[in-house]
Amino acid sequence: MAKLSQDIKAVMEKTRGYAVATCSKDGIPNVVPIHFVKILSDDEIMLADVFMKKTLANIQQNPVMAVSVWDWDSKPRKGFQFKGTPRIETSGKVYDMAVEIVREQKPDLTPKSAIVLKITDIFVTSPGPDAGKNIEEI
Ligand SMILES: Cc1cc2nc3c(=O)[nH]c(=O)nc-3n(C[C@H](O)[C@H](O)[C@H](O)COP(=O)(O)O)c2cc1C
Repeated sequence: MAKLSQDIKAVMEKTRGYAVATCSKDGIPNVVPIHFVKILSDDEIMLADVFMKKTLANIQQNPVMAVSVWDWDSKPRKGFQFKGTPRIETSGKVYDMAVEIVREQKPDLTPKSAIVLKITDIFVTSPGPDAGKNIEEI
């Protein structure tokens, strides 16, 4: 099973944003920048949905997601891609967490939902010989 290692978590803790890709049921791709993301466990992350429209509609009709995160400053540069199954939570502990992380920075905003991504695969995007490999193959 895919697990977020300390190395990956360090990149996530440093980043200011993620590229989040979804896909409609007709195969139309959509990618958006997302700032409010929290690590829930070694294989789950939460994305706070404040403004998502096509992203949310795509998750409802076709629950697949790819997320890319990278570190421009590390030498060598590091990047990781997560793929998995998203679900939408509009109440409960995780939703409350989304409200908290958004309000910490933007007290006037309230998330519509929390998107929980259950990560099934993690790939390396770091430039070099391992680029594209599943972390379990390295
Ligand atoms: C730098 C940046 C950070 C953003 N962070 C978030 C975020 O954390 N949550 C969110 O719902 N939208 C965020 N947005 C807005 C989304 O990128 C996007 O505009 C929104 O999901 C609507 O696009 P969609 O209809 O394709 O989903 C951010 C936008 C930018 C430019």
